[in-house]
Amino acid sequence: MLTDSFGRVHSDLRVSLTDRCQLRCTYCMPEEGLEWAQDVLTADEIARVVRVAVWQGITEVRLTGGEPLLRRDLLDIVAAIDVPDLSLTTNGMGLARIAPELRAAGLQRVNVSVDTLRPDRFRMLTRRGGHEAVLDGVRAAKQAGLLPVKVNTVLMRGINDDEVLDLVAWARAEDVELRFIEHMPLGPDGAWDRADLVTAEEVLATLRGAYEMTPVGARGHAPAELFVLDGGGPRVGVIASVTQPFCGDCDRLRLTADGHLRACLFSREEDDLRPLLRGGASDEDLAAKLHAVVASKGAGHGIGLPGFVPPPRTMSEIGG
Ligand code: 5AD
Ligand code: SF4
Repeated sequence: MLTDSFGRVHSDLRVSLTDRCQLRCTYCMPEEGLEWAQDVLTADEIARVVRVAVWQGITEVRLTGGEPLLRRDLLDIVAAIDVPDLSLTTNGMGLARIAPELRAAGLQRVNVSVDTLRPDRFRMLTRRGGHEAVLDGVRAAKQAGLLPVKVNTVLMRGINDDEVLDLVAWARAEDVELRFIEHMPLGPDGAWDRADLVTAEEVLATLRGAYEMTPVGARGHAPAELFVLDGGGPRVGVIASVTQPFCGDCDRLRLTADGHLRACLFSREEDDLRPLLRGGASDEDLAAKLHAVVASKGAGHGIGLPGFVPPPRTMSEIGG
């Protein structure tokens, strides 16, 4: 098992398939995009790392990006991964078309980002269009049986924080789980300000004003705190990554598109697997590297602590 020095067992691997994206969400990327990685892992290399990770105790794999649907060999990658829980996080563009094929290739479920229900705001927030495609993608994923479909929303003060109840009503009508994620300091310089943070507590206060909220069991390793509203319907949750970090329960390990292993979203160190993958290393060598990275994991991200320095890479490069 991949156990760190604090006794946390790692069972969840997040794999970024590309750092590219066709959107430019203001909290994620600068308008001009980033300098895209030149040397990303091949489908075979990804499949091999995942196989070794599963051998070492990983039971859950989440494919992310950037935008993972931009990978042309996505269906091959999905088909090559054999793990009890395989999911994918997407911005939803193009999902409507490919959802049935993803399901057929063995994908179990998707998380889709929906930050606003208003097309004009979507255009402003993402600096691109395509809002309708995203909402279609959510529906298509449901029809294709990529269940449960979970929707992620990042709230920003003065931008979309007035849509909490609209988003909840929409998610209930669509019968999808909605989770409000606290904005984390990972985007372009100046995109994050602690003073502007829309906290999970604030979202819950808004929800309590409109619904009777029943907490759903213990959170366990899952970052979301979930509730049933008015005794039924899909669950709604908050992910308090900043104000109530869940690092003590973290069971996640990350592989970037360019083959670097990271113990934490906020790590300032990462390990390049490419020399091993391309230099004839054995599966045992790769497994040893996985253990070494897990062993190096710190106690927590320390966003609230004095001296906190965000990582030099953005979420799209690391894999959300
Ligand atoms: N803080 C919180 N969530 C973020 N995401 C991207 N950047 C940030 C950030 N700085 C979200 C995306 C997507 C998921 C992968 O992470 O909106 O839903
Ligand atoms: Fe693309 Fe997701 Fe970043 Fe938006 S948040 S620019 S959809 S990678």
